[in-house]
Parts: sequence; structure tokens; C-alpha cells
Amino acid sequence: MDKSKAVSTKVPFIEENIKEEMQEMQETLMVYRAAIKEVSTKLDILDYEFKVRRQRNPIEYMKSRVKLPDSIMGKLRRKGLEESIESARKNLNDIAGIRVVCSFVSYIYEIADMLKKQDDITLIKEKDYIKNPKPNGYRSLHMVLEIPIFFSDHVEPVRIEVQIRTIAMDFWASLEHKLYYKSGEGNSIHIKNQLKECADIITETDMRMQSIQREVEKLN
Ligand code: GTP
Ligand code: MG
Repeated sequence: MDKSKAVSTKVPFIEENIKEEMQEMQETLMVYRAAIKEVSTKLDILDYEFKVRRQRNPIEYMKSRVKLPDSIMGKLRRKGLEESIESARKNLNDIAGIRVVCSFVSYIYEIADMLKKQDDITLIKEKDYIKNPKPNGYRSLHMVLEIPIFFSDHVEPVRIEVQIRTIAMDFWASLEHKLYYKSGEGNSIHIKNQLKECADIITETDMRMQSIQREVEKLN
């Protein structure tokens, strides 16, 4: 058999396949970026309305990200799921993520309730790690929301993970993530205990800040 011929028919086929997969990945990322835009705008509007009506912004800042392709495939592998774009869209709730950082605990629930009430949003899953903190001390309110995204020729329901927390909770989670989460199964009890102690101090501080805020609100 003429080897050069075999190669020349195979390579374009592979290239075509890669091109198709890259196009599919681009389109997927576009869909999730659109969902982030949509939900971020909703949050901006709520923050702005709050400011106009109650003279304060409940949201300190927001961060958002679309999971990178490597990280998407890594998560599918860890979960023993098929490693494909279709499987990712079906099985993962956190390809798009927004983290909303609020000043006070009460604002977290106000923002969450206002979002959940909107007609075009469906609550898929909610985990309240504030009422039920994780054993390591992690606190945050997690929601998986589904929202329709309108494209030129179709409407697509897209899931997005929204994490809402206070500045204090975000401070702890960010540092704990660097020190431990996802890497530190081998960390000692001593380190775990210290992180938990810091989480307890931060919870106490959040509660005091909330009660000061209520006092100030009464004075006004
Ligand atoms: P994942 O497979 O990790 O997404 O778990 P899950 O689908 O059960 O989600 P869960 O709501 O428990 O956590 C999702 C996200 O919350 C994580 O990807 C982190 O961003 C954050 N998170 C959860 N637990 C911790 C924690 O103990 N420490 C920190 N720093 N972040 C956490
Ligand atoms: Mg996650």
C-alpha cells in the first residue's frame, strides 16, 4: 500500500474533527458567557434599585468566570463521567459561575430571594452553607439557577452557579482555598483546627457587624 496516500487522506479528516470540536467548544463557552452577562445584569439592577430606594448598595463586588476547557474535562474525569462537551453541558452546573459578595448576611438572603422571584429564573438547586456550615467552617449560599438565553434562531435554557457570601466569608474561603481546598487532603488536624477557629471568629464578626448595621438602621 502506498503509505503517503494513507497519510494524506487521514490528516485532513483529523483536522476537520479538531476544527469541529473547537467550534463546538467556542459555542459552548459563548452560551455560558451570555448567561453570566444576563445574571450579572440582573444583579446590577437589583443593587442599583436597592441603592436608589434604601440609600445603600448591598453588593460590594462580583466575580465571574467560565470554567476553562481543561478544568471542565478534569471535573468530568474526577466524577467518572463521559468527557465530552455534550456531557459537560448535561452534567455540570458550574461551567458558568458568579460570586456575589455582600456587606451583611441579611443582604445575602434579600438578594437571593429577589433573584429567585424573577419569572425567567428557575431554581434548580440550593445549598445553604450559612445556616449549615461545612465541617471545615466554609460558609456561603449556593444556588444553581436556570435561565433562558435568546439567540438569533433559538432559545436555550442555561444553568449557572451563583455563590453569595459576605466579605468576611469570601476572605476566609479565598485564603482557605489557597491553603487547603482541593489540594490538602493530607493536611494535618492542627491546620484544619486552625482554619476552623478562624472561620468561627469570622462568623462571630459577621454577626456583630450585622447587629451594628441594625442599630445604625434604627438611628436613621
Ligand atoms: P463541586 O463538585 O466541587 O462543584 O461540588 P458540589 O457540586 O457539591 O458543589 P458545592 O456547592 O458543595 O461547592 C461548589 C463550590 O463552592 C466549589 O467549587 C468552591 O468554589 C466552593 N466551595 C465549596 N466548599 C468549599 C470549601 O470548603 N472551601 C472553599 N474555599 N470553597 C468551597
Ligand atoms: Mg463547583
